[in-house]
Amino acid sequence: MMKKNINQKIISIIEYYKMINLDMIISNDPITRYKREKNINFVSDKREKLNILKKKIENIKNCNLKKAANKMVFSDGNINSKIMFVGEGPGAQEDRMGLPFVGAAGKLLDKMLDAINLNRTKVYISNVVNYRPPNNRRPTDEEIEKYLPFLKLHIEIIEPKILILLGSTAMQAISGKEKIISKARGKWFKIKIGGCEPEIIVTFHPAFLIRQPEQKKNSWYDLKLIREKIKFLKL
Ligand code: URA
Repeated sequence: MMKKNINQKIISIIEYYKMINLDMIISNDPITRYKREKNINFVSDKREKLNILKKKIENIKNCNLKKAANKMVFSDGNINSKIMFVGEGPGAQEDRMGLPFVGAAGKLLDKMLDAINLNRTKVYISNVVNYRPPNNRRPTDEEIEKYLPFLKLHIEIIEPKILILLGSTAMQAISGKEKIISKARGKWFKIKIGGCEPEIIVTFHPAFLIRQPEQKKNSWYDLKLIREKIKFLKL
């Protein structure tokens, strides 16, 4: 009976904290069983917000991707950039190094950036999922759903003016499952993501371009659109 009351009390406390919108993490500390995670909404510093987001992702529970991966892959590039790229998910090299786009696809992405006078000091890069899907498979719909709130928060923190979705996984995660990349690529559109509403464009994923080099001409068309938009927005 006594035990039930204590459990009920804990549940009420958790409900109360949920109600007042405070995120909690369970602590092993014997004195304070519950530690408060800083509420991202009350933090103004971008780097601190990103660190809170990183912790939230590190604290994901019951995730098969996380269980199978070596390292969490959060982002690379300039946190103050107004140009953000989103890929699909880490591959083997990224999983080893904890950085996005450092393998073969990353080398091609660097060339694509260079072609329009960009590089990693001028852009910000992340992925739909932050842990490597085993055998480089596409993340499942369930996995994408699980990580989508983090990706959206990530975009909100960076506040890009231009958002480039690399490949169909990023495209479908942000702009809807019904879209087909061959039709949707190379066109600007806008979607409200939390407090920001960037100009969005979909283009082919560099890993796809490695497999289908004849599509590089379409990719080049998209890159030129991005270059023009950067000029137009004076970024
Ligand atoms: N492919 C992606 O989509 N992301 C990476 O980080 C690496 C390869």
